Amino acid sequence: MTLLVCSASTKKYSIDFDYDKILIVDSPPNKEILNKKGTEDDVIAIGGGSVIDTAKILSKEPIMAVPTTFSGASQTSHAVYWDNKKKFNIKRKKPRLLLKQDYLKSLSQETLLYSKMDCLSHIMESFISPRATIESNQIVQKAVEEVHKGNWLEASILAGDAIEITGTGFVHGFSYPLTAKYGIPHGASLGIVLNAIEQYPKIEKDIRKTVYVAMVADFVHVGHINIIENAKKYGKIIIGLLTDEAVKSYKGTPFCPFEKRKRIVENIKGIWKVVPQDSLDYTKNILKYKPEYVVHGDDWKQGVQKEVREKVLKSLEGWGGRLIEIPYTEGISSTDVRKYLTYKMEEEK
Ligand SMILES: [Fe+2]
Repeated sequence: MTLLVCSASTKKYSIDFDYDKILIVDSPPNKEILNKKGTEDDVIAIGGGSVIDTAKILSKEPIMAVPTTFSGASQTSHAVYWDNKKKFNIKRKKPRLLLKQDYLKSLSQETLLYSKMDCLSHIMESFISPRATIESNQIVQKAVEEVHKGNWLEASILAGDAIEITGTGFVHGFSYPLTAKYGIPHGASLGIVLNAIEQYPKIEKDIRKTVYVAMVADFVHVGHINIIENAKKYGKIIIGLLTDEAVKSYKGTPFCPFEKRKRIVENIKGIWKVVPQDSLDYTKNILKYKPEYVVHGDDWKQGVQKEVREKVLKSLEGWGGRLIEIPYTEGISSTDVRKYLTYKMEEEK
């Protein structure tokens, strides 16, 4: 008795074969298929990874695999099945391969793209695998040559041979939860992971960028929020919160002590960390945290902070950091609030 396993889209090729019964597969093998493991003597599989894996599980003997995608499943001696969104791998017999180039012509653009992604992932993962051998690397090299020639079926067969030696790697590993949780097709999940890897150095660089903003925050007002909103655009914000001693040196004793001011600032959206700045001079902290940016209102070009600004510029030169100056928020000033409160308190005495 010969069983032919195919999908709805590959059923049309069944006329080319002699068989006694047919099984149409529309999803990867599950526990139900596993329960029928090794119950078939003679199995032909026409299709992609899910069809071939289903046939491998059902068959006692090596199946005849006719791949219609570039999954490489026809070359491996294991099959994947899913149980409750969990993926399992079981050892099976390596299929006998039958190549039918014509069957690949009717692949949809989407399936073709996902299929190529699967093939490329197999090639890359095998190449960088810690289990790579001289033989697997030679196979990978041949697979790459076939990709360059546009022979994707040959490339996928070779890629399948390579992963038979090395196994798949972290790209497949990361992709499976995307398929399990969101139902994203295998090749598309691989594409998402590969894209994330490609973006990673850029993202990581951006993530690491830090922005230093010094403040007293005795009274938090819209001017502070303007500075924070602007600073956020450049990276992770480190607030250099002036200590009580530092505030005293140029404004007088703060109304709110350091620890309370720290708690308030730490709870403002977008702040990464708050560190003490123990003098009006930023130099010590700037040299310690080496931020890519320092953000300040443009009101410090003149007056008491002019010299501080010069020092910030000088320090940033050390690693090509930049000073970003945000237009001063008109109509609100901590100094004015402070003066008003001091006046009121004096009046009430
Ligand atoms: Fe794959």
